[in-house]
Amino acid sequence: MHRTQIALCYGTRPQVIKASVLRSRLEARYSVVAVDTGQHYDYELNALLYDQLGVRAPDAVLDVGSAGHAEQTAAVLVRAEKVLQEHRPLAVVVIGDTNSTLGCALAAAKLRIPVVHVEAGLRACDALMPEEINRRVVDAIAHVLCTPSTRATRRIAAERQDAVIVQTGDVAYDALLAQADRLPAPPVPGGARDSRFCYATVHRAELTDRPAVLRGLLEALSALDRPVLLALHPRTRTALEDAGIEQRFGPNLTIVPPVGYLESLALARAAEMIFTDSGGLQREAYWMGTPCVTLRRETEWMETVEAGANIPIDPAGGTPELTRAMAEHRRRWSAGETWPRTAYGVGDAAQRIAAALEPLVR
Ligand code: UD1
Repeated sequence: MHRTQIALCYGTRPQVIKASVLRSRLEARYSVVAVDTGQHYDYELNALLYDQLGVRAPDAVLDVGSAGHAEQTAAVLVRAEKVLQEHRPLAVVVIGDTNSTLGCALAAAKLRIPVVHVEAGLRACDALMPEEINRRVVDAIAHVLCTPSTRATRRIAAERQDAVIVQTGDVAYDALLAQADRLPAPPVPGGARDSRFCYATVHRAELTDRPAVLRGLLEALSALDRPVLLALHPRTRTALEDAGIEQRFGPNLTIVPPVGYLESLALARAAEMIFTDSGGLQREAYWMGTPCVTLRRETEWMETVEAGANIPIDPAGGTPELTRAMAEHRRRWSAGETWPRTAYGVGDAAQRIAAALEPLVR
């Protein structure tokens, strides 16, 4: 039987999106086994994306689902090892910084299979943030580090003299460009005209684990001078329910279930401004030319801040923080300030990643 050359492992919503372009580029050169860990399993976070992006079902599903960090990561580790032993790939590609990334990378490294880390070299100041732990460990054990930007390349080059480092650009840009011509009309909140609305998402533990801050943030969003559409991640919905917080705020805040990738891109393109703690949406805003306010005090995507496209804020700062950032963006906008959109490559990252794997499969 023909030997599997590459295992491509992913499991959360943004990874399904990035894997869609990676998989087709990899399959053009290699035999690939696609492994979905099942970390995200809700229809909107998984199957909907396969449908929208026209991606074939994965070759293996690990069905790990939700659990605490230890249990979820351990389930990925144990189940990924079985699949990798069965297929014996020559390299394992992992993406980003989730528990799925960590579990699959560890399983591969322990089997002495070279790990290829896509989105290597990103760092936040908060060393205890779950994603930061995951990305640091994976960056430390990967064999090939594919970076999205010059900053990430420099940082990882200082840490890992022994690894192969390839600056590929950001595969999320490839994904966006592949869909840019087929976006639907944006599902704007009731009553909003043109771009006179804002688009918001919130899901990180730093917010969902602090119900008072989360409630204050949603109240502040509902008090803005624009209608706001909030696409609510299931983690955030659960956090609100657990804290007994009613999902009803001012009439200006419309809360909907997670929207599809295409709808999210359409909203990001049409909105006046974006409020988010998602890393993906920060870059999509940057590429779409829509000003972004990041609901964290820091971001791994500093190029977007330096370009003037993104303003990180303290999410506990309430209305004054949100309106300050909004006013600053409007000032820049009315002064005609725009930004170059080149910090994360030109949209050929998947192609470059595929080429970087060549030495591993010889
Ligand atoms: C994960 C990643 C995060 C990434 C995000 C993208 C980790 C540590 N975090 O966060 O880096 O930005 O995905 O969305 O891996 N849940 C559902 N249905 C689902 C998935 C999750 O209800 O389909 C709920 C469950 O209550 C679960 C909670 O969300 O306990 C958290 O899910 P989890 O997979 O731990 O991480 P995310 O918050 O989605």
